[in-house]
Amino acid sequence: MSKLFTPFKLKSITLRNRIAVPPMCQYMADDGVPNDWHLAHYTEIAKGGVGLLIVEATAVSPEGRITPGCLGIWNDEQAVEHANIVKAIKKYGAVPGLQIAHAGRKASANRPWEGDDHMKVDDSRAWQTIAPSAVAFGGDLLPQVPHEMTIEDIERVKADFVLAAKRALNAGYEWLELHFAHGYLAQSFFSTHSNKRTDEYGGDLKGRSKFLLETMAAVRKVWPEHLPFTMRFGVLEFDGRDEETLLESIELTNQFREAGLDMMSVSVGFSTPDANIPWGPAFMEPIAKRIKDSTQLPVSSAWGFGKPDLAEHAVEHDALDIVMIGRAHLENPHWTYTAAKALGVEKPAWVLPAPYAHWLERYKI
Ligand SMILES: Cc1cc2nc3c(=O)[nH]c(=O)nc-3n(C[C@H](O)[C@H](O)[C@H](O)COP(=O)(O)O)c2cc1C
Repeated sequence: MSKLFTPFKLKSITLRNRIAVPPMCQYMADDGVPNDWHLAHYTEIAKGGVGLLIVEATAVSPEGRITPGCLGIWNDEQAVEHANIVKAIKKYGAVPGLQIAHAGRKASANRPWEGDDHMKVDDSRAWQTIAPSAVAFGGDLLPQVPHEMTIEDIERVKADFVLAAKRALNAGYEWLELHFAHGYLAQSFFSTHSNKRTDEYGGDLKGRSKFLLETMAAVRKVWPEHLPFTMRFGVLEFDGRDEETLLESIELTNQFREAGLDMMSVSVGFSTPDANIPWGPAFMEPIAKRIKDSTQLPVSSAWGFGKPDLAEHAVEHDALDIVMIGRAHLENPHWTYTAAKALGVEKPAWVLPAPYAHWLERYKI
């Protein structure tokens, strides 16, 4: 029997299976407002049978967007459109999650298919980025030097996260994910590649964790105890200092757990263009298992689990509690059906709604 197709309960929420769609930016919004594209995209995936669908990185403020096409949830107009997406996801039996984010020094960029690079300073759509220190991400694409955040900036961003979480709750989201990964703002406080501060928000692990712990604690107060409160965090960089970073990440994740985190989505730091990432199928599985075993937190992870047997292996071997299947859903929004067939689930078509399932099962040719 497939374990991937068993329910997973976290707080008061039960997922119908352990398949989740990780946040994937669509870069299709204007002024951060979800539109027809987002509604159709998320509805289609929810119909496909996934347990959890986490809506893409959604900025807590205009400056927190990666690109001008990113979603936001800093005003009521955006929240109303999010509520429509939530309704559609729930209608088709998936749990609606939201990832709230601030892109930090990686913000103010062109859409990936329009260059993926920082917008030029004279581009009227560009804005000043902010980060713990005035250090650019670098490489060929992201040379803009961010403004070093003042204590007032830090307080403002924390408050933006709190307001975003409240709006997410009011819009009906039932699962919240803090985007503390991928070289964006929170990750860049944690990483020594980007945090060169000499005040209480920099230096040793305690200093580099302060922004993350404080932001999490502030959001924890407004996000209800009965709903899953989760985080995506880059636990290592693949920069040659991985054991050291992993030990720090484990220590910090234990603190997150004690402060009320319910689950960790284990990912990569992406804080330096010079990382040597061992891309390959399910390459994060052993790392996620180590985080799970060292912290006793439920974990999920992504990156190359898009073959059903790899996803099944990860849950069967207790490396992951739920498996994030990203790009495979762009290729096939009914991936869950494909996996159900491959893994021998009884009446696999019935992971889909009846108007599809009936006919897929009816004829055997
Ligand atoms: C189009 C696209 C957009 C993405 N946007 C986000 C995002 O908003 N937040 C995030 O944490 N990761 C984002 N990612 C990373 C995915 O969540 C996921 O980790 C990645 O696609 C690897 O999983 P996969 O191999 O199943 O596709 C994005 C990836 C893609 C392909």
